[in-house]
Amino acid sequence: MSIKKNTGNILPCLLAMAGMLMPAHSNAETINIGTQNTTMLLDATEGCQLRFIYYGDAVGTDDAATIAATTANHDAYPVYGMSTQRETAMSVTHPDGNLTLDMVVTGSETTSGTDGSKTTVITTTDKHYPFEIKHFYRTYPANDVIEMWTEAVNNGKKPVVLREYASGYLPIRVGNVHLTSFAGSWANEAKMVEEPLVHGMKVIKNKDGARNSHTAHAEVMFSLDGKPQENTGRTLGAALCYSGNYRLRIDTDDSDWHHFFAGINEDNSAYTLDKGESFVTPPLAITYSDQGKSGVSRNFHRWAREHRIAHGTGLRKILLNSWEGVYFDINEKGMDDMMADIAAMGGELFVMDDGWFGQKYPRNNDSTSLGDWTVDTRKLPDGINGLLEAAKKKGIRFGIWIEPEMANTVSELYEQHPEYIIKPTNREAVLGRGGTQVVLDLANPKVQDLVFGVVDTLLTNYPEIDYIKWDANAPIMNHGSQYLPADRQSHLYIEYHRGFAKVMDRIRAKYPDVTIQACASGGGRANYGILPWFDEIWVSDNTDALQRIYMQWGTSHFFPAVIMASHISAAPNHQTFRTIPMKYRIDVAMSGRLGMEIQPKNMTEEEIALCKNAIEEYKTIRPTVQQGDIYRLISPYDGKGVASMMYVDEHKDKAVFYWWKTETFVNQHLPRVVMAGLDPDKMYTVHELNRIDNKPLPFEGKSFSGRYLMSNGLEIPYTHDVDYHKLNAWASRVLSLTAH
Ligand code: DGJ
Repeated sequence: MSIKKNTGNILPCLLAMAGMLMPAHSNAETINIGTQNTTMLLDATEGCQLRFIYYGDAVGTDDAATIAATTANHDAYPVYGMSTQRETAMSVTHPDGNLTLDMVVTGSETTSGTDGSKTTVITTTDKHYPFEIKHFYRTYPANDVIEMWTEAVNNGKKPVVLREYASGYLPIRVGNVHLTSFAGSWANEAKMVEEPLVHGMKVIKNKDGARNSHTAHAEVMFSLDGKPQENTGRTLGAALCYSGNYRLRIDTDDSDWHHFFAGINEDNSAYTLDKGESFVTPPLAITYSDQGKSGVSRNFHRWAREHRIAHGTGLRKILLNSWEGVYFDINEKGMDDMMADIAAMGGELFVMDDGWFGQKYPRNNDSTSLGDWTVDTRKLPDGINGLLEAAKKKGIRFGIWIEPEMANTVSELYEQHPEYIIKPTNREAVLGRGGTQVVLDLANPKVQDLVFGVVDTLLTNYPEIDYIKWDANAPIMNHGSQYLPADRQSHLYIEYHRGFAKVMDRIRAKYPDVTIQACASGGGRANYGILPWFDEIWVSDNTDALQRIYMQWGTSHFFPAVIMASHISAAPNHQTFRTIPMKYRIDVAMSGRLGMEIQPKNMTEEEIALCKNAIEEYKTIRPTVQQGDIYRLISPYDGKGVASMMYVDEHKDKAVFYWWKTETFVNQHLPRVVMAGLDPDKMYTVHELNRIDNKPLPFEGKSFSGRYLMSNGLEIPYTHDVDYHKLNAWASRVLSLTAH
């Protein structure tokens, strides 16, 4: 990064202050926020408005200087007041009632982090009021990711109210730009939506309060060269790293630009900044790739594994979770049997889900006991120690489900501390799941201690617990903190997540090694705000293999396989009631972090044998799946009758190829899938995993060049070669490719 000297040419500043689009002046102080393959140029001339010049493919210093001197540039962080007709990133009310900001650059500095990152801070100061905005740009050069965020500082003596406080802004040149976003709902998360950006405002937002990704994701991609392509085309990706309410806006106005803003959703969250206080917005992570959407995914996945996910570069254990197997029917014999079954199939971990706790109020269904985290000894006479002992004997690890941010009104906790729940004064609380669920007020430090204590007590008493499934099954339904003062009620959504962060920081400081899954009625917490503390997410409560292809496809755009918990479950499926053969269920689950969510007792001998074999085979491909680069090949959303993708390891020595038929018609013609990401000059030997066919595929054990596989691909049979009574409508293949 280089910083040039400011020579103080005032005319361009005047133009900039008038909010005009203009070529940068020749004496501008240009800051180059560079990564290995990308460049962002900013004009940070002191005394002038901070201007955005360029973001895209890496450019050399000569180009950078010429671009800076000749390119039409933009306000890098539009603020409200002196150009009121535009969308803005920040707006405030000063103590005297003035609603405007007028910011100029007053300094900048760059520092290096120990993790290879570099952080540039550019300070802008209001021309009249004692109010500052610090603009942060942190680069991860090897991953081509830039995190942007801001800090608003009230240097005055009286409170300033923040009305808008976006993390970042990016102008995107109008052309044939298409937006990819992820909408959905419970059991149908991360549905991919692709659309051209047209005139008007596109808003993607969440107001669930506690969790935030069931209805829409805080991540989007912009394909700059027309209809989104997977492995070609200039593409931008952006992810707001925040666990609470968010708002992404894309305003396409009468100019040549789409204006993209991302940040906390300010709705009902006006924030009062007292004297000397500052407000830090969550990071907006962005990347650019000329290799299409999959290129953006690969950048995000690498950055996330290396910098943003707890134990992101590690491998995850293969587990059995008890939920769909027994639901609330927890008892010692049942848990013992399930542990024996998963151990016999080669699994490594057993997770006891909901239903194990509550003394006065036993947790037999979802209407009682949240908050009372003591083991129900009627169900588990030997307690957690008994289960840990049993797991040890079977050579597997043990994990446990909790939902510590919540309570039921039928619980000892609520009886003792009704003041701990989120609820407005003078109102009865609206109740959630089970007709009694409420959300605890994490703005309250005593509640923070309580929630920390749930985990602390478990992990102190039972240090051998290896895994926690942390659930959150309610949004914030009642706006009102019994802890915050009357004039700070609009801080609730923000203070909730600050409290959550404090709790998680304490947990991770004391228990750095435990694996923690973020579940929120399925995929309600798929966001980079929580992942520094969590190892993985439960993608969805819907475990139907066909629908999972669609949901995992969407989720994979920003989140790597290592965090995508993907479980083999029963047929008919408990959510869709679709009957899908075990082979297909396995082949889909093996594209993420493989697990099982089933009662093994109800499985046939043949199904058990298939799963045992799959677990053994998954162990051989686990590093490639969980740490490899993704190449999406044929989208299920394209309706071509087949979906296909692959993972390739860092050195292009190993790859795993997935092919799932998504529909079946007689005399159907499916496209041949051309592979991607291989080394054209290496020879790859093909081996089919999870084979059920009577005969091996014609190319089993044969070698092909990467060049051939990427220009032609293999001819995958449309059906399985099995005995007549085993024929069905489903077909799928998983191939491992090994270079030699
Ligand atoms: C919702 C989760 O998504 C499920 O997996 C399960 O843990 C239940 N909660 C338990 O109540």
